[in-house]
This record gives sequence, structure tokens and C-alpha cells, in this order.
Amino acid sequence: MITPQLTQLAYRLGTINQFKTNEVGQNRFVYSPTWIDAQKQLIKWGLELRFQVNVDDFGTTYLDIPGTTEPKNVIATGSHIDTVAQGGKYDGLYGVLGGLQSIENLVAAFGQPKKTLRLISFSEEEGSRFPDTFTGSKHYTGQPVDLNMQDPAGIHFDDARKSAIANLMLPGTNHELPQLPATFTELHIEQGPRLINQGLQIGLVTAIVGQRRYTVTVKGIANHAGTTPMNDRADALQQAVDLILALRNAAHQLKPDLTFTVGEMHISPNTSNVVPGLVTFTIDCRNNDEAVLDRFEHIIHQIVETPAAAKISSSVNRWAKSNVTHLDDQLAQNNQLLADQLGLKSVQLASGAGHDSQIMAKVTRTTMIFVPSINGISHAPEENTSQADLLRGVELLSASLHQQAY
Ligand code: GLV
Ligand code: MN
Ligand code: MN
Ligand code: MN
Repeated sequence: MITPQLTQLAYRLGTINQFKTNEVGQNRFVYSPTWIDAQKQLIKWGLELRFQVNVDDFGTTYLDIPGTTEPKNVIATGSHIDTVAQGGKYDGLYGVLGGLQSIENLVAAFGQPKKTLRLISFSEEEGSRFPDTFTGSKHYTGQPVDLNMQDPAGIHFDDARKSAIANLMLPGTNHELPQLPATFTELHIEQGPRLINQGLQIGLVTAIVGQRRYTVTVKGIANHAGTTPMNDRADALQQAVDLILALRNAAHQLKPDLTFTVGEMHISPNTSNVVPGLVTFTIDCRNNDEAVLDRFEHIIHQIVETPAAAKISSSVNRWAKSNVTHLDDQLAQNNQLLADQLGLKSVQLASGAGHDSQIMAKVTRTTMIFVPSINGISHAPEENTSQADLLRGVELLSASLHQQAY
């Protein structure tokens, strides 16, 4: 049995989480200065530990320990290095650094594996800067990504990508897209309350919800707040509020477990004495039934596109869609048996959060290991997991990689 080194994992988590902006929580948007610092630090650790280091065109980083007898047979683990705005310390990063710790421990205990062990730090998963999600794993698996898309400041993805990656090409790194692995295992915090509430230590993920993201644009007419009569205004924000309420009620009526979130809103001109002339807001909705998401999409169009008042118009644009994904049953069962052997209480469950695993699962056998989230909080600075649970996840991941690669 491998005893993971807590101090080293905690030290590495702390080091990367110190690359901060002045804002609250972690703000590691893809290709930003904090993202560059984080990915660069990982590359330095990889080089120090004598991994073979590859960086691809999107800045996803691959750390390999080549196999002795089956080097082309790759057993991969990893997660994403970016965060949401004001995010937590573990979403994504735990899977990257927990994976590094597992591979480091295995090599120290058992030497070089028969098959190649690979740690992957995906460039981007959250969709927090550009209007697309999972761009790192999409690029690795050959799915198209629009290089022309822009962030809110008007910076093109392709320009941001090129200048960020130039910073990652340290001496000793290769610049290429490695072959796809035979299996992928993602270690992650649960981000919800089920494990912690049930007193369980490990979740084995069987499926990932489908999700869609939209932007609704409401156009009215900006005008003076004091002189424009109440019955003659085209107030874009009042209309947005009505739409959100109607959409939320429709979602709940359609299926109570259909999640519906308006998380981002922009008001123009955003001034106290002006009737708002333009509002945009996002919708994030998720479910484990694709037909429900299709039906809700239809309802969204109906509600948003039904004319409200003469001078107000609304439209909706879907910018992200991922289908319900089923992960590999055999790998989950193997990991559950390993958890039993390690004395860890586990359960098989579905994930309500999106993960790179849903992209990887299209091309390779894929599984996920969850550890509990204290108070079920994630995508927030309060996101936390006990040190003991962080270690348990690394312990199980090590056992799983050992079973697969040695
Ligand atoms: C990604 O973390 C998501 O589920 O939004
Ligand atoms: Mn994540
Ligand atoms: Mn996330
Ligand atoms: Mn339409």
C-alpha cells in the first residue's frame, strides 16, 4: 500500500493557490497571468521529477513516465488547471496535483511502470473567459474549437493562447500533441453534499449530466429615469426580470431536478438614473435526461421570443452544449473493489458538474473518483475538503493506476 505524502500535496496546492489576483477566491482564467504561473510551476515540478514534459497548442500539459515494456499503452490521469471567477482551491487543481502525487509515489515505490503513466493538466474546462467550455480536452481529443472567439475584453482566443504558451516552453519541454491514452481517470472533489451527508469517503462516477448554456439579450430603449412616463418605457431590465421568473417557473414545472441558473448579467448603461436600454444574462441548465433539455430549449425560445412590449425585443443564443455521458462501468467497479480493499466507504453516483472526463469518454475508457466536499460547497472560495479525504482520494487513485500500469 502507498502512503501518500500529505505535506507535499498540501504544499503544492498552497503554492499554486498563492498565484492570485487581488479578487476574492481563485481567479485562474485560461491564459491569464495566474494561469501561466500555475501551469509553469507544474511544468517545473515535472522537469525536476524527471517526467517527460509535453505542452500542446492549447497549453494543456502532459507529464509522462514512459512504460518499460508497453510504452505506447498510456494510462492517464489529471484534470483542469483553470477556475471559475472567485473559485475555490480544489476544483480541477486537486485532480492535477493529486495525480502528480500518485504517480510520484508509485515510481518511488515500484520504479518505472510497464505502461506509460501520464498526468494531464488541461488548459481550460470552466468556460469562464471565452464562450466555450472544455477547450483543453476538446483539443486533445480532436473536437473543433473556434479560435476566433473573444473574451469580454475583445481579446481573441488564438492571440491569448499563443502568447500564453510562449511562456510555458521551458528548456526540456516538448511542443506536441501526444497520442490518446488507453484509459483516463479523473480525481475530483464531489462539489455537492451527497458523500459528506452520507458519511462516505469515495464516489465512483457512473455518469455526468448533460448541460447547455445560453445568453439572452434584451433590447429596450435607454432613457431618463425621471421624465420617461411609467407607461411609455422600454425597460430592458424589467423585461429581463420577467423572463427569468417565467423561465425558472417553466423549468421547475417541466422537471423539479432540472437545474436552472442565471449566473451572469450585464446591464447597460448600468446607471441609477437611466432606464436600462440593454441587458444580457446567461442561462446554465442541466439534467440527466437529454429529452428534458431538448424540451426546455424549446420552451426557452418560446418564452424569450414572445413579443413583450412594442419597443422591446429579446433573443437567445446557445453557446455550449454537452450531452449526458456514461462513464466506463468496469473501471468504476474495479475502483470500488480497490476502495473496499483500502477500507474506504464508497458509492457509485452521477455527477451534476461538468468534467473533462465527459470529453475524454468519447475517445477512451474513462472513470472518475470523487472525494467529499465540506458543506457541499464548490465554485466558491469556501470550497474545502478535509486533508484526510484529500489523501484517501490519492490513495485510491494510486491503487488504481498501479493496477492498470504495473
Ligand atoms: C464545471 O465545473 C461545471 O460543471 O460548470
Ligand atoms: Mn472541475
Ligand atoms: Mn468547475
Ligand atoms: Mn429561435
